Order: sequence, then structure tokens, then C-alpha cells
Amino acid sequence: MSPPPPPPLLFLLLCSLSATASAAGKSTAAAPVATPPSSPVTIPAPSTSSHSTLDPKQLRALQSLSIPTAKDPCAPHNAATTCDAAAPFRHVVSLHLSNCSDDVSLSFTALESLSTTLQSLSFTNCPISPIRFPSDLALNLRSFSCAHSFKHLAGVWLSRFANLTDLAVTDVPVNASGLYVVIGNMRKLRSVTITNANLTGSIPKHLVENLTHVDLSRNGLKGKIPSSIAVLENLESLNLSSNALAGELPANFGDLISLKNVSLASNSLSGSIPDSISAIPGLEHLDLSSNQFNGTIPKFFTEMKHLKHLNLANNAFRGVLPFNASFLERLEVFKIKGNDNLCYNHTSLSSKLKLGIAQCDKHGLPMSPPPSKDLTSGDDGDSSDYDDGDDGGSSSKKEGHHGPNKVFLGLVIALSSIVFLIVFLILIAKRCT
Ligand SMILES: *[C@@H]1O[C@H](CO)[C@@H](O)[C@H](O)[C@H]1NC(C)=O
Ligand SMILES: *[C@@H]1O[C@H](CO)[C@@H](O)[C@H](O)[C@H]1NC(C)=O
Ligand SMILES: *[C@@H]1O[C@H](CO)[C@@H](O)[C@H](O)[C@H]1NC(C)=O
Ligand SMILES: *[C@@H]1O[C@H](CO)[C@@H](O)[C@H](O)[C@H]1NC(C)=O
Ligand SMILES: *[C@@H]1O[C@H](CO)[C@@H](O)[C@H](O)[C@H]1NC(C)=O
Ligand SMILES: *[C@@H]1O[C@H](CO)[C@@H](O)[C@H](O)[C@H]1NC(C)=O
Ligand SMILES: *[C@@H]1O[C@H](CO)[C@@H](O)[C@H](O)[C@H]1NC(C)=O
Ligand SMILES: *[C@@H]1O[C@H](CO)[C@@H](O)[C@H](O)[C@H]1NC(C)=O
Ligand SMILES: *[C@@H]1O[C@H](CO)[C@@H](O)[C@H](O)[C@H]1NC(C)=O
Ligand SMILES: *[C@@H]1O[C@H](CO)[C@@H](O)[C@H](O)[C@H]1NC(C)=O
Repeated sequence: MSPPPPPPLLFLLLCSLSATASAAGKSTAAAPVATPPSSPVTIPAPSTSSHSTLDPKQLRALQSLSIPTAKDPCAPHNAATTCDAAAPFRHVVSLHLSNCSDDVSLSFTALESLSTTLQSLSFTNCPISPIRFPSDLALNLRSFSCAHSFKHLAGVWLSRFANLTDLAVTDVPVNASGLYVVIGNMRKLRSVTITNANLTGSIPKHLVENLTHVDLSRNGLKGKIPSSIAVLENLESLNLSSNALAGELPANFGDLISLKNVSLASNSLSGSIPDSISAIPGLEHLDLSSNQFNGTIPKFFTEMKHLKHLNLANNAFRGVLPFNASFLERLEVFKIKGNDNLCYNHTSLSSKLKLGIAQCDKHGLPMSPPPSKDLTSGDDGDSSDYDDGDDGGSSSKKEGHHGPNKVFLGLVIALSSIVFLIVFLILIAKRCT
């Protein structure tokens, strides 16, 4: 419709483009000058290690584990070891083996010489064979972690670390008839992570009361979540996602009053969301996605002041979504798609939110199948705003208004942008000449 710009205008446009380009070039060229020259790195002198060195027996033990000892292993910032400050000899208190070469193996004598002082032991990417640990060491350890190391571990082997406060096993198959075999004896346990470990059986009825962190995600755990879990009043995070748990959530789930992060995603849990959850004051993150939860979605979520992440997608919730836009704006993550019998009230929530569920009719029932398949095409254009008109049979009156309005609006926008372009080019022309 609008005529192509005449040659002089085109020239002016090019002129302005080159001007901005050179300005940009100048600013990038100036950038390195603006940054101050990097100051020489000062390494703090290892004060303690100068007058105390590592126990020779422990030094030999580290060497047998292929840990480089040319530099003082007790020097600060050493990634593999930390030491106590004892005199005349220091001792290893924590040991981290990572990226072990194939020839590394654990020796009983090496472990024995570390056993009275070592409290923390971890393995990352170490395909070594587990050996029987000296019982002094097994009972002395406070923290044991193992990621993608050993070919597999026996639950009984792990269970000998009776005084652990922290246990983390990831990406290592654990052979045990149940979790209870592994942690049943660990009376001081605070944090347990056993993920992607092929763990089977059910969640033990008796768990240590002081647990603050439980992550058993990506295993084959079966059965119900026991109501006795509610005794864990210090529990801050619970991740049971990607297991085969079934049944309903215990009604007293909300007795877990310290909870902040919860994921029960990708199980076969059913029933409704227990009301007691409203009593968890600091809940930040709740993921119940990909289960068979049913019933209505409780309104109490809107009163949970700390809630940031709420994922209820892919369940069997029904009824009217009881949330308004101001609540959803407050959340960082909200997912609800994949609930075929759930719908949203058009008066409180705009279709622009693309929730992935259908709009309610006047009876509070989903008006049409959820637009999950149409989502991608809806994302492309801005047309989704007008899709509602097509969905709702009652909006024919609105459409009569919409047609002329749209044409008029288009004309106004087109005209004003042409005027704006001309004014802009004239201004540029004045600058350039
Ligand atoms: C181990 O290897 C990984 C990847 O190969 C690397 O990112 C990591 O920094 C290594 N860790 C150590 C302590 O060398
Ligand atoms: C570790 O636990 C055992 C009981 O399992 C106990 O007898 C022993 O004193 C504990 N050791 C330490 C160092 O806490
Ligand atoms: C797992 O444990 C059972 C019983 O202790 C044993 O028969 C089986 O061989 C173990 N499997 C592996 C892979 O260690
Ligand atoms: C739990 O923690 C409390 C306070 O930190 C402590 O007094 C109590 O002994 C602990 N209980 C167990 C079984 O470790
Ligand atoms: C996982 O456990 C099952 C039986 O419990 C066993 O057949 C399978 O080999 C295990 N997988 C791995 C990787 O250990
Ligand atoms: C909860 O999860 C967030 C990130 O999702 C993390 O930053 C925070 O440390 C977690 N809190 C607990 C208690 O695990
Ligand atoms: C739970 O575990 C899964 C898989 O291990 C992880 O992706 C997810 O971020 C965890 N969620 C929470 C809330 O910790
Ligand atoms: C909701 O789940 C519970 C527990 O599995 C089940 O007994 C009930 O029939 C389900 N209700 C509906 C409407 O599907
Ligand atoms: C949204 O819902 C909350 C809780 O139900 C309510 O306090 C608030 O006033 C509502 N906001 C609007 C804009 O309706
Ligand atoms: C939708 O919200 C409006 C205003 O709050 C209310 O009058 C109407 O009954 C609601 N519709 C449904 C189906 O809940």
C-alpha cells in the first residue's frame, strides 16, 4: 500500500545506519580501556602447614590412593583433602576422590591408617571396587557420598556407616531389599540422598526423627507414603519423584511443618490434596505433577505466602481452578496442563495465560477439550486473544463490534507509522548534513 521510499530517503536511511554503527564500534572499542588492569593474584600463605605436616602413615595412604602428594596435601584449597590442625602431625579429616584412573584401588591398610581421623569420604567418577572398611573407619565417618562410582554397592555395606549424618549415593545401583536395610541403623542421619540407584521396596515406617533432607528420586520405590512420615517435623526437603509410589497422601502430611521443597512428581499417587498441607507455613516448592491426583484444587494455596513453584500438571483434577491472576503473577512457576476435567473462570483469568486447560462454561464444566494440541500454533500468532470468541457461542455480539474495530485500528496504526517514519527521516537528514 505505502509507496517505496524515494532514492534520497533511502540514502538518508543508509547515512543514519552507518552513523549508529560507527557509534557502536566506538563504544565497544572503548570498553577494554574502561576495565581496570587485573590486579596480580595474591595467594594467601599457608601459615599452619609450615610448622606442621601430615602424619607420614597417612601420607603413604594418600599415595597408595594415587593422590598427588608432591605439594602439601594439607595446603588450603586442596580439592582432594582437608586436614585437622594437630601437632606435631596433621591428619586427614576429609577425602574426596574424583575422576580416578583405572589402576586406583582401595587398600585395607591405607584405609586403616586413615580410620581414626577421617570423617568425610566422597567418590565422584571413580569406577573402583568397594572393599570391606575397617570398622573404626566405618563408625567414624560422618559423611559418605558417592556419585557415579563403584559398579554397584550392597545395602549392607552402606549400613555399616552407623554414625553418618549425611549419606549421598547417586547414579550407583544399590542392591538392597529395601531402604530400611541401608539406613535403618543410622540413628544420627540428617540428610539422605539415594537417587537413580535402582532402589526397590517401600518407604520404611520408621525414619530417624531428625532428618532434614530426603531425596530418593529416580528409583523403583513402591507402596504408599506411610503416615508415620509425619513425625519428621524437621524435614525441609522431600523428593520422592520418579518412583512407583501409589495410594493417597496421608491426611497428616501437613504435620511436616518444616517443609520447603516437595516433589512427588511422576508416581502413581491418587486421591485429593490433603487439607493439612495448608498448615505448612514455609512451603516454597510443590511438585505433584504426573500422578493421578483427583478432586478439586484447594483454594488455600493462595494464602501460602512463600509458595513460588506449584506444578499440578498431568493429573486428574476437576472443577474450577480457584486462582486469580494476581496469585499466578506472584508464582515463579505454575503448571496445570493435562487435567482434562479442570477449567478456568474467564472472569478471573485471561486466556492469554495459556494455562493449557479449557475455559469453564456457566456450570463450571470445561467448555471444550483443553487446547493442548493447538498450543504451538497459538504461540505463533497473537490470534489466541481472539480464539475465545470462537470458543464461546455467546460472543457473537462482540464479534459484530470486533470486525469494523479491527479494520479501523489497522488503518490508524498504518497511517501513524508512515507519518512517524517521515518525521524520523527528516530529523536524521538534518543530523547527517
Ligand atoms: C573430573 O572430570 C570432569 C569432566 O571430565 C571435570 O569437569 C571435573 O572438573 C574433574 N574433576 C576434578 C576434580 O578433576
Ligand atoms: C558410632 O556408633 C556406635 C554405635 O553404632 C557407638 O558405639 C560409637 O561410640 C559411635 N562412634 C562415634 C565416634 O561416635
Ligand atoms: C544382590 O543381593 C542378593 C542378596 O544379597 C544377591 O543374591 C545378589 O547376587 C546381589 N546382586 C548383585 C548384583 O550384587
Ligand atoms: C535430634 O536433634 C536434637 C537437637 O538437635 C538432639 O537433641 C537429639 O539428640 C537428636 N536426636 C537424634 C535421635 O539424633
Ligand atoms: C535393578 O534391580 C533389578 C531387580 O531388583 C535387577 O534385576 C536389575 O539388574 C538392577 N539393575 C541394575 C542396573 O543394577
Ligand atoms: C529448595 O529448592 C531451591 C531451588 O529449587 C533451592 O535453592 C533451595 O535451597 C531448596 N531448599 C531446600 C531446603 O532444599
Ligand atoms: C527432585 O529430583 C529430581 C530428579 O532427581 C530433580 O530433577 C528435581 O529438581 C528435584 N526436585 C526438588 C524439589 O528437589
Ligand atoms: C480419586 O482417587 C481415589 C483414590 O485412588 C479413588 O478412590 C476415587 O475413586 C477417585 N475419584 C475419582 C472421581 O476418580
Ligand atoms: C485474588 O485472590 C486472592 C485470594 O483469594 C484475593 O485476596 C485477592 O483479592 C484476589 N485479587 C483480585 C485482583 O481479585
Ligand atoms: C466466575 O466468576 C464470577 C465472578 O467471580 C462468578 O460470578 C461466576 O459464578 C464464576 N463462574 C463459575 C463457573 O464458577
